[in-house]
This record gives sequence, C-alpha cells and structure tokens, in this order.
Amino acid sequence: MKLDKGTQGPGLVLRRVAMSATAVALSAGAVFGGGLATAAHADSATLTGIVLGVGADETQRVVSWYSSTGTAQVVQVAPTSKVVDGRFPANAVTFPATVTANVVNGGYNAHATIDSLKQNTAYSYRVGAEGNWSPTYSFTTQDFNGNNLDFLFFGDPQIGSSGNVAKDGAGWEDTLNVALAANPKAELLVSGGDQVESANTETQWNAFLASDKLRQYPWAATIGNHDVGGKAYEQHFWTPNTDRSAPYYNGSATTRSGGDYWFRYKNILFIDINSNAYASGSDAAHIAYITDVVNKHGAGAKHTVLIYHHAIYSPASHANDSDNKVRRQDFPTAFSKLGVDLVLQGHDHSYSRSYVIKNGQKANKDEQPGATEVSKGPGGVIYVTANSASGSKYYDLTAPDTTKDPNYGPDPLNPKSHWANSVENQEHVRTYVRVQVRGNKLVVENLRSGTCAAPNSAVELGQESWCGPDSGAGAAQPVGSTVDKVVIHTNEGKAGEDKQAASESDWLQ
Ligand SMILES: [Fe+2]
Repeated sequence: MKLDKGTQGPGLVLRRVAMSATAVALSAGAVFGGGLATAAHADSATLTGIVLGVGADETQRVVSWYSSTGTAQVVQVAPTSKVVDGRFPANAVTFPATVTANVVNGGYNAHATIDSLKQNTAYSYRVGAEGNWSPTYSFTTQDFNGNNLDFLFFGDPQIGSSGNVAKDGAGWEDTLNVALAANPKAELLVSGGDQVESANTETQWNAFLASDKLRQYPWAATIGNHDVGGKAYEQHFWTPNTDRSAPYYNGSATTRSGGDYWFRYKNILFIDINSNAYASGSDAAHIAYITDVVNKHGAGAKHTVLIYHHAIYSPASHANDSDNKVRRQDFPTAFSKLGVDLVLQGHDHSYSRSYVIKNGQKANKDEQPGATEVSKGPGGVIYVTANSASGSKYYDLTAPDTTKDPNYGPDPLNPKSHWANSVENQEHVRTYVRVQVRGNKLVVENLRSGTCAAPNSAVELGQESWCGPDSGAGAAQPVGSTVDKVVIHTNEGKAGEDKQAASESDWLQ
C-alpha cells in the first residue's frame, strides 16, 4: 500500500474532523480495511456532483460531492495497481467525509480530504459507503520534488450564459477533453471563476461538473461574480486554508459564497482571492491576506501565482468598470513588492497578457508588443486574462478610453491596445491557458480548444456575427494552435529579496 498507516498520525485526524459544527456522523479518522461499521447506513443515498479538488499541498486531494442523505460517508482510496476487477483491496484506506445539510436546493454536501499521497502513483477512489459506492475514479500523482509543473487555467465557463445550458456544457466538456488530451500530465486545473451563470441553478452545475476530467484532475476553484450570489459554490467546492472573514466574503454568509484561500503545490505558492469583495476596504484586506500567506507560507516557494476573477488589466468590456479602476491603483504595487510572479484572472471573456508590470508601471518601456521572451526582474509581474473556455459568451476587445480612465490609456507601441497589455486577443473561439513551470522559467501559452464550428454556443446561437483571427478576416486556425506564447525568465535571487523586503516595509499602511 502506498498509503501507509504510519503517516496517519493523530494530528492529521484532528485536522480532518475539525470541520463545520453542523457536520454529522463523522467517524474518528482515516479507517483501514473494508469493514466500515460507522458508514454502513448510506445505502440509499444518491451521490452526485463528485469533483476532485486541490488540497493544502501536493500530498492531498479533496473530494466534494452532493448526497441525497446526511448519512455517514467516506472516500475510499487505493493504489490503482491494487484494484482488481473493480474490487478495492481489503486494506484500502477510507477518509471520513464531513456531511452538511445544503442551504439551498435540498440534500447534503460532503467532502473529505485524502492525504499522505505518494508521488508518481496512480490512485483509484470512490465515495459513499459500504453497499452504496459511486463509480470508481482515478488520479495520478507526479514527481513531488521536481522543478517542473504543468497546470491549465480556464476562464469563465459560465454555463448557461448563452441561454443554452446543453450547448455551453458541450463546449466546456470539449475544452477539457482537448486540453487534457494535449496535456495529460497537467497537474492542476485552475479556475478563473464564473463556473455557472446563475449561482444556485443546479442544472448549470450539473453541466459544469459533467466531465469525468473533473474527477481525474484537481480543480482549483475560483469564485466569480456569477457564483457569489448563492451558496451552491460553497456546497460544491471545499477549498483548503480558506478564510471567510467578512472582508473576504462581502455579504451574508447564509446567502452568498466567498473567502480567500491558498495552497502549496510542489514549490509553487498559489493564492486565490474572492475579488467580488472589493468595497469597504476589502482590497486592503486582500493585500493583507496575501502578505500574511506569503510571509508565513512562501518560504522556499520558487514562484507565487495569484488567482482572482476580476481582471484588472481587462482588454474588453470590463476595462473601465469602476471597481477595476480602483483596483488598478490598489493592487499592482503590493503585488510587485510581495514577489508575485504571475496573476491569473477572468471575467472579461477575452485574452490578454501584460507586459512586465512593476509597481503598476511598464517595467521596461522598450518591451515590444507580443515579445516571445521576457525577463521578469525583481518586482516584475505578468497579468493574464483568460478568454471563455466554454464558448458560452465572448466580449469583444475595446479601444482604450482615457475619458473613462485617464490611467488606462493606449499603448504607445500599439495604440489599439491598453498600455499594460503586450497581447490582447478575441477570435470568438474557445481557448485555455497552459502554464509550464520549468525551473526559473514560466512558459505561458493561450491555446485554441475549439474552432468556429460547434460546440461554440455563442457563435452557434448567432450571438456573434464573426469568428476567427483578425475579427474574422484571418484564416481559421486549428484546435491546439497557439494564440500567444511567452517564456518568462524569472530572477529568483532578486525576487527572494523582494519578498524579504515586503515583510519589513510599511507599504501597506
Ligand atoms: Fe464574471
């Protein structure tokens, strides 16, 4: 067994069970062997919406799901090599779930953290209880110590936003299939937010969660403005290290979702914040949260990746939203001083990749539009905005307009584009972003996962009148082709100094 008993110390058990006060029927910790006396009464539960999530680090995964009953349930895990003819071995490990009554839409939500995973191992898992198991799913861990990591970033699936849930779901499922066929060794699927159009509409959630890829690769959930207005987001996704204090929540905890969270994956620190919270000092609170996480958990991190929904260097419809104008002033200097390397954003349903931005300014005025290699340097940050991954809705690029924001005018080197962005793109085809960490290099690429043909709901439904490169004038490009690619050279020594300096400065005041 790769999951050995020796690593299941009491601290791990306590961490697992220290959950919501409304949790019911927890067993005392990980259970070994097939006899699940404490979880034997869920034989009528209907188990749906199973989704694999990120844990606190690379040795963990979180499984979340919906259950029709509040009975005791578990995740059962074994190395795939030990699962024969679908039968889990007698010494399969079980992790007890926290089962909580749903606030909206009835039923219950459950989650359990799988921990003590070993590297380079294929695991199989199922949820439920003896006599009533879900289908078996699998995931594979990779080298925990390497300097290489591939992860994929997806913008705004927003299932239902075209008005046709089935078509939006088909585009989303196709993007996942295309992306993971091209990148089977991707280790994380990172969300840009707006999983669904209507926060509490379960038919949209069902379509979002339909692909088994979301049970094979961990989803790092991000909350968007379309997810925030209900409880279903929190019911579907349990995230690690989550702080749901008021400044990160921005609304009633009984009717909305929210919170900032972080995790380490190998030598990368990921911080995911709820950008729906922006009024009443929330921007400063987010910066304080990021600062605290970097200072307490950033030691040894080779790169820091920050994720949130509302792109600050928007290329399209949201470029001059009032909250955006404020955040362009509030965030960038802090991110530079904290040594953030890469910021991943959504909300604008168009693609952009910034120049190297330092303290809210272009770091090197000579950096050319579309440069394929850049050196980040100390304090340098690259901001990426993801286009639609599902095809449910696209926004067209907008011209810079200094009457709306004098601080977000045209790029002198490319006046059609906003000054901060090296690349802005919209073709009305589905895309996703691949990030390849290669030691001191970050390779960021925006790749087409669809064409103008179906599934492409916004185009199919006539909501876009053109499709293809150059506003439809260019030759159609195939699935898998590259919209943009940049190799970012980082400077670890200087970045480390920046992180140290951040902890000693009073720039937050
Ligand atoms: Fe959005």
